[in-house]
Amino acid sequence: MFETIAIAPPDAILGLTDAFQQDTNPEKINLSVGVYKDANGQTPVLRAVKEAEQKILETQTSKSYLGIDGLPGYCDQVAKMLFADQIDRKRLAILQTPGGTGAVRIAGEFVGSQFAGSKVWISNPTWANHPAIFHSAGVATEQYRYLNGDRTGLDFDALLEDLSSGPVPGDAVLLHACCHNPTGVDPTADQWRQIAELLKAQKLLPIVDFAYQGFGQGLQEDAEGLRILVETCPEILVCSSFSKNFGLYSERVGALTLVAQEPAAASAALSQLKRLVRTNYSNPPRHGATIVATILQDPQLTETWETELTEMRNRIAGMRTRFVQQMKTAGVNRDFQFLLQQNGMFSFSGLNPMQVDELRSKHSVYIVGSGRINVAGMTEHNLPRLATAIAAVL
Ligand code: LMR
Repeated sequence: MFETIAIAPPDAILGLTDAFQQDTNPEKINLSVGVYKDANGQTPVLRAVKEAEQKILETQTSKSYLGIDGLPGYCDQVAKMLFADQIDRKRLAILQTPGGTGAVRIAGEFVGSQFAGSKVWISNPTWANHPAIFHSAGVATEQYRYLNGDRTGLDFDALLEDLSSGPVPGDAVLLHACCHNPTGVDPTADQWRQIAELLKAQKLLPIVDFAYQGFGQGLQEDAEGLRILVETCPEILVCSSFSKNFGLYSERVGALTLVAQEPAAASAALSQLKRLVRTNYSNPPRHGATIVATILQDPQLTETWETELTEMRNRIAGMRTRFVQQMKTAGVNRDFQFLLQQNGMFSFSGLNPMQVDELRSKHSVYIVGSGRINVAGMTEHNLPRLATAIAAVL
């Protein structure tokens, strides 16, 4: 049977990591996958994580299964991280999931199984994996416009127009809480208010993807959009991740949080979500969630972690400025100043697929086919070579 199987295309993002690893050029540069690199081009284990792991090593007494919804102490910390004390915990159903991706998948299956026919509206563009996840979960997607003509800022009127005219009551709308992937373009607080009013008026369910908390303006600042939504919209699904802000990529530490109007509805929803998990991965892994809970339950470790997160955020912001300068120095006509208005790891470079191919084949510089660059992969060392390569393909 297996001889009839066709080869699938490589993944738009993780496929590039494979190609990068096989590249023998010692000066190769990887700006594809959304992973933070420090000034030395390394993805470090955070000091807070090392300390927490030491503590866990000394105190952990069992590796028995977690419950289907994960580690209770972890889920409580997720609630605090997302909402501070804005919402009664009883209105929340929270599941620890394998990464933010696991949360998006369970959210998709939940929408598909509970609200037959509901579509999910995604921004154009969005994370390359979003449509594929919803389709795998049996849920159809539609797009709403997001970017302006030169693809450097938000076309808010187009977004409002599409979300007012396209979706029908009961559809879901996927929003990126901050550091929009792949563009780095986020709505302002006032725009979030207008989005919230529109979703409420049209009876649309917000699904908020929150993978980069702390990489935009700060932990609390980055939650502002979500907190505005929750003031207005009675029900929300939040898919969050600690992969990036704790540097715990391979530990797969995420969460799906459902906000219900009433505690009884939250309990019923949790029971359904648990059924979906049980038939998928049964229950989530313990280690990463224990690390996060250990840090967030300890004020000293939390302080260490917040300092490290601030360092990461500041380094990325600094590289944005340095990249813009370096492109000028390389004599590139295009003005990259717009990068300074954007948040988080990603921005659209404006490079077309042919230029992206040439960057890879001639210069061993890896960026996603859409032209998305990961600013967090830039260092003082690779910047001059990067700028020369981009100047050459432009
Ligand atoms: C990215 O967009 O690069 C990250 O979210 C990693 C991934 O899984 O694609």
